[in-house]
Amino acid sequence: MSVLLRKKDIDVLQQEAEHEKDLKRSLGPWSLTALGLGAIIGVGIFVLTGVAAATQAGPAVIISFIIAGCASAAAALCYAEFASLIPVAGSAYTYSYAVLGELLAWVIGWDLLIEYTLVVSSVAIGLSGYFNSLLSSVGIQLPAAISGAPSTGPGRVVDLFAILFCLFTAWLLTRGIKESARFNTVAVIIKLTVVVVIIVIGAFFVKPENWHPFAPFGFSGIMGGAALVFFAVFGYDAMSTAAEEAKNPQRDIPFAILASLGIALVFYILISLVLTGIVPYQTLNNSAPVANAFQAIHMPFVSTLVSIGALAGITSVLFAFMLAAARVWFALSRDGLLPSWFAKTHPVHKTPYRPTWLLGIITAAVAGFTPIAVVTELVNIGTLSAFIIVCASIIILRKRRPDLKRGFKTPLVPLLPIIGIGFSLWLILSLQPITWLRFGIWLAIGLLIYFLYGIRSSKLARKQETDSPKAAEGIPDTV
Ligand code: ALA
Repeated sequence: MSVLLRKKDIDVLQQEAEHEKDLKRSLGPWSLTALGLGAIIGVGIFVLTGVAAATQAGPAVIISFIIAGCASAAAALCYAEFASLIPVAGSAYTYSYAVLGELLAWVIGWDLLIEYTLVVSSVAIGLSGYFNSLLSSVGIQLPAAISGAPSTGPGRVVDLFAILFCLFTAWLLTRGIKESARFNTVAVIIKLTVVVVIIVIGAFFVKPENWHPFAPFGFSGIMGGAALVFFAVFGYDAMSTAAEEAKNPQRDIPFAILASLGIALVFYILISLVLTGIVPYQTLNNSAPVANAFQAIHMPFVSTLVSIGALAGITSVLFAFMLAAARVWFALSRDGLLPSWFAKTHPVHKTPYRPTWLLGIITAAVAGFTPIAVVTELVNIGTLSAFIIVCASIIILRKRRPDLKRGFKTPLVPLLPIIGIGFSLWLILSLQPITWLRFGIWLAIGLLIYFLYGIRSSKLARKQETDSPKAAEGIPDTV
């Protein structure tokens, strides 16, 4: 039992973070906020807002956003405290290694790996779909064979652009964090400009009668909408995996987490109001609801602009989540839970290029050949599980180590983390049982790997072996 519960010492982690030279510290508060916004605002705002309004909540989708936003904000405040305490790569995985012990840390790291990988694949497919429709709007028709995965349409064999997007992102990410962040910042600026244009121009075309009835599907519709738009309100957690590349992580990561979620939520609420105000909510159930709404009110120029903004927006989500997946993989390998071969950074660019390339290939293979209708649910269950663990860890850590210096303190502990846990559990319960099963299988594979490999090869295990016989019985529970 003591083996499974062995923990990293927070004081050691803090020292390591100060002296860590593997990754390059070049991200300031606004680059980090841009990374956060890059990961949060994407498919959620450009697709799910409309779908949730049409199929679940009606104009009351704005309330769905507020509910999903509350769940996410409660977790964000907990993430912020951890980021100010343990500013190292790996995010929720590293936090739980210090608080809950090795086994649970591995489980959460494994969970994050599938979540982030599937976000990349599904977002790449969405991006390719938008790209295809933009090409066809200028008269270029791709051959069916390369425009989608098998079984998504007649004659389709492979989604070539989804593959290329994954490989391009991997290439960019291996070039250096600064270069990647610059590219991301440009994508985020385009996306935010388009979002502001949508809100400002759209506001002139709102017809208040479109907001009646406000909640046509009642409270259950609003809650169903919240479960769906939950996908839209996370992403800052992916950004926090880059803590070791931040110049001043203790101060800047909490700021960036809260700023990116706050800005995104304000935009979401305004877009929901505008979108359901300019066209009847029943017309929003399609794969490009924002662009199509502007077509419907005879503004083709704004509609094209929205498509370009969506492309930039979804690209930056792809970017942020592949970056996060590679950082989690890197952290797992550096700790010896996966082969340490992956923990070697590039000699020149200082990026974890080995996991990044491998993820590029894996996500490309999934995105190119899989019709991913169910992955959103898997992504949500993965994220919600991580949220629960992070919220619970904050309560535990406040009790065990009240003395630790915290750059940021989550307010209203334990109430706020309990609210975060409650919301997350409720949202997990509203997912389909088949998703729980798939998630369970993934976790079982993870446990197998841990008991066959990680349990013996982890850095802590090797440290225990070399330490005194007394220590071999278990590292003292310092946290
Ligand atoms: N929040 C991200 C999106 O909406 C995952 O695309």
